[in-house]
Amino acid sequence: MKMDRRAFVGTLGAATVGAAGARAAGGSLPPPGSGSAPAAAVARQADPVEAIEAFAFDAYGTLFDVFSVTALCEELFPGSGDALAQRWRAKQLQYSLLRSLMGRHRDFWLVTEDALVYAARSLELDLTAARRARLMDAYLSLEAFPDVRPGLEALRARGVRLAILSNGEPRMLEAAARSAGIDTLLDTIISVEEVKIFKVSPRVYNLGLERLGVGRSALGFVSSNAWDIAGAASAGLPTFWIQRSAAEPPEELGFAADRMVAAITDLPGLLGPAG
Ligand code: LAC
Repeated sequence: MKMDRRAFVGTLGAATVGAAGARAAGGSLPPPGSGSAPAAAVARQADPVEAIEAFAFDAYGTLFDVFSVTALCEELFPGSGDALAQRWRAKQLQYSLLRSLMGRHRDFWLVTEDALVYAARSLELDLTAARRARLMDAYLSLEAFPDVRPGLEALRARGVRLAILSNGEPRMLEAAARSAGIDTLLDTIISVEEVKIFKVSPRVYNLGLERLGVGRSALGFVSSNAWDIAGAASAGLPTFWIQRSAAEPPEELGFAADRMVAAITDLPGLLGPAG
């Protein structure tokens, strides 16, 4: 019998359903970069939600809709807006991974601009300096998904600390958070610029632990990017996948999410009854 995953979660109640077999083969492995002791994996709580003291959110695609630039792409390049927005995002991520493998870090603002230049060129679009500036500017005021503000407010009301943990360069993250009106709901914004390597390096997820001063089982990592969830789970963090598209399968990387929900507003319910 086949059942849509979201329906499955809905049927049983999000609070009680883990991503079954989430840890699979990877569950018994120590997180890379955590030393030789497999303590984090072994000491993992039966219910990974119980120990959560803070949530760290991915930014792009999770809080901010990177495809809210599509309308401007279409205005500037009629007929090619969707292709440009899609290729821009795909290249941005690819360049972040390639640069990390090459050991050639460049901040995410510049990586995003490089990706835009490539994407436009590959589609044979005339990206003038003025158009480039307008599109890059749009990245500073991306729309937040509708569940973001109410979800963060509800989590804050539960006394959970909230942070962004993102590839983004600090100023671009601050601008986007301010523009979306969620800056005041966050305790801190943590950028990979502190470690000069992009996700999915375990150094990034470990930076979240260091900056928030919590143990590995106390920091829930939230992302709608399945590859990011795999990275955080591999680093030993409890993970919460916001599956924004029900059709999207999890990555085949051996590390699935501990919990899978449809929206950030589903997260407070996972924490159990309010005390
Ligand atoms: C982030 C991007 C990569 O780290 O989604 O925010």
